[in-house]
Amino acid sequence: MRTQVGIVGAGPAGLMLSHLLALAGVDSVVVEKRGRDDIEATIRAGVLEHGTVELMQQAGIADRVMTDGTRHDGIDLRYAGAGHRIDLRRLTGKSVWLYPQHEVLKDLINARLQAGGDVRFDVADVALAELTSEQPVITFTDPDGTGQELRCDFVVGTDGSGGICKWAIPETARRDYFRAYPFGWFGVLVQAPRSAEELIYARSERGFALISTRTDSVQRMYFQCDPQEKAEDWSEAEIWAELQSRVAGNGFTLQEGPIFERGVIPMRSYVCEPLRHGRLFLAGDAAHTVPPTGAKGMNLAIADVRVLAQALESFFAGNGTALLEAYSDTALRRVWRAQHFSWWFSTLMHNLDGATDFDVRRQLGELDLLTSSDAAATYLAQAYVGWPAKL
Ligand code: DHB
Repeated sequence: MRTQVGIVGAGPAGLMLSHLLALAGVDSVVVEKRGRDDIEATIRAGVLEHGTVELMQQAGIADRVMTDGTRHDGIDLRYAGAGHRIDLRRLTGKSVWLYPQHEVLKDLINARLQAGGDVRFDVADVALAELTSEQPVITFTDPDGTGQELRCDFVVGTDGSGGICKWAIPETARRDYFRAYPFGWFGVLVQAPRSAEELIYARSERGFALISTRTDSVQRMYFQCDPQEKAEDWSEAEIWAELQSRVAGNGFTLQEGPIFERGVIPMRSYVCEPLRHGRLFLAGDAAHTVPPTGAKGMNLAIADVRVLAQALESFFAGNGTALLEAYSDTALRRVWRAQHFSWWFSTLMHNLDGATDFDVRRQLGELDLLTSSDAAATYLAQAYVGWPAKL
């Protein structure tokens, strides 16, 4: 088999890249080790930046975001028992959309399959070869056990944080930056009405909590926990008590209901540099991970492939390799901005191991500044709605 761009991984980065390339008349094949049902059911974050939605609109895949998603013009920063609204729209002229990542994936998979795109689920033994030649190869085993060899002009690794592609860059040519956090998030989906119109990011003496939403009757909530915590060890009453204590104050309480999904999410920051080796390019979580606070992960993945799709399109249009050569530096600029933002927002809002009284007062001083100075709030608002496509 042959294609112009072989893509490993059918997550947001891989599918969006395949979609954008198809719009530009460039062929691709996507190989994915997971099954379609599994991908479409995996719960991830739910915030789409302004620029992510704009790109989806331009690419003709935003219909359901507009009908089923919800525009959010602000977020609530809650600390010391009171809420403080950050008016994203007043500060930036932009908003974000609440629309879960697995719904984005359903839309992308539909769009690819309807356009006759080649997306192969349930493949095994994916390996890369000849990456520094003009015709790199992806080998894999079909679900029926047949070995396949896919010759490509370029290979793109979009196989997520646990993926294999980045390890194909030799250690001598790769630099890894890694930071683990001593806390995780306990995430739940609950059958209950909304407790507030906008997302609540809460800092309390018991730690961080985030109150998000999915639909009128399904809510998404998280609270800071030990990363080794076993989600199944907690009773529903214990979970509610923890969540309520973290948002308490001014008479505010969460609307409770049955918890039907739970899990513990680890928090880490990671970047692999550069995002290219020969004819292999990396995009999304395959190359970098951020802690979830602020929901940058999928948005960064989409921003990467927007740049990469343009570079590949330019190459196949006969305009040479200049944009491909610039890809890693161009994408990494946004990646490191987002690394800073996600680290900053996380450390501002969480209980930090070994924090002194000074550290706590300093956090509260910063929150006071953020919620009373437009200059400070504008940094948060711009980062939250997403920086412009061109930095
Ligand atoms: C959600 C997740 C986040 O990490 C965030 O910052 C906001 C919302 C969510 O799952 O809804």
